[in-house]
Amino acid sequence: MGNNEVERTFSIIKPDAVTRNLIGSILQRLESNGLSVVASKMIRLDREQAEGFYAEHKGRDFYEPLIEYMISAPVIVQVLQGEDAITVNRRVMGVTDPAKAEEGTIRADFALSVRENSVHGSDSVASAEREIAYFFAPEELCERD
Ligand code: TYD
Ligand code: MG
Repeated sequence: MGNNEVERTFSIIKPDAVTRNLIGSILQRLESNGLSVVASKMIRLDREQAEGFYAEHKGRDFYEPLIEYMISAPVIVQVLQGEDAITVNRRVMGVTDPAKAEEGTIRADFALSVRENSVHGSDSVASAEREIAYFFAPEELCERD
């Protein structure tokens, strides 16, 4: 998968990981796989922000507990850049359920449960564009080689 083009994706280091001081360990996995941070900030999401971000899941049984979890502690929101960044990030993250994620992925190694699964990554170019714009102004993204 991927088209070998340099692209940008949106990433969150979620509350369970921030709370357990796993920011560095997770960034290590991302950076060592060719993903470069071009924007980053720590924020505490409010309910409205979290609901808007996960609007596609509204009405699902996991939606309300997901929102509660996402606002329970600070997160790192960041933009990652690299060749096939969207696909590479999803691969390094592992699948949604850590019990099903491949060994060596962030979720297999760090996540606590399907909900408390340590990281978010955009799933398409359209999602990446929407999610980056949701948290960052264009001038907050740094140019990198
Ligand atoms: P989803 O977009 O399906 O997963 P991913 O983060 O891998 O793109 O779901 C968004 C988040 O919602 C997911 O990271 C954790 C939560 N979630 C649950 O808590 N239970 C579930 O059954 C699913 C599908 C997701
Ligand atoms: Mg998703």
